[in-house]
Amino acid sequence: MNLRFTPMTEADARDILAWRYEGQYATYNSPDPALGADFDALAELLDTRSPHFAVREQEQADAPPIGFFAYGSACEVGGAGTEGLDTPYLLRPDGSLTIGLGLRPDLTGQHRGLALVEDGLAFARERYQPSLFRLYVFSWNERALRVYKRAGFSSVGVTRITPPEGERVFIEMTRPV
Ligand SMILES: CC(C)(COP(=O)(O)OP(=O)(O)OC[C@H]1O[C@@H](n2cnc3c(N)ncnc32)[C@H](O)[C@@H]1OP(=O)(O)O)[C@@H](O)C(=O)NCCC(=O)NCCS
Repeated sequence: MNLRFTPMTEADARDILAWRYEGQYATYNSPDPALGADFDALAELLDTRSPHFAVREQEQADAPPIGFFAYGSACEVGGAGTEGLDTPYLLRPDGSLTIGLGLRPDLTGQHRGLALVEDGLAFARERYQPSLFRLYVFSWNERALRVYKRAGFSSVGVTRITPPEGERVFIEMTRPV
């Protein structure tokens, strides 16, 4: 692994919550209105039951994060396959692990995402020994889809959610460990 993963601190979380993506990617800006006005984004980033990690270059331990990685229920979409589970959680009962991630806005589009994904999978393989990796990605997000396919993920389904802002369509992807 080339990147350095450290458990999310409050300072890192506040930094990441202030990130602002542009154009169509602005939908990833926090807070996400689809999660409701009462949703506490800071608390979610700091909840170790579905842990989030700040990611940095190895030699830049004191610099702001270049990305984040999340594991478990915080990354689930739609609820299928997780009925009856108490949240937050890390692994589903079948041992599979749902992941989420993001590069800092100014670093996107520079072919840095694949290294982040691969290191995030390696980190989780070692730390959590999942049976399978899963992720959900907006169907329109061709840039992310390309990176995930390159990292070995394949599409296994479509998940639609309908918050007040309008329907959102996600591709569910999995990859063997
Ligand atoms: C998703 C993410 C990890 C992708 O990493 P990245 O380093 O930005 O992606 P890359 O620069 O490697 O681009 C991947 C591919 O998409 C292509 N691409 C870039 N912008 C594109 C666009 N708007 N439409 C279609 N393809 C696009 C690139 O040309 C590249 O293709 P190539 O490798 O065949 O040349 C990163 O952008 C990110 O974290 N973004 C945050 C917001 C987000 O989309 N989150 C997804 C959460 S599921």
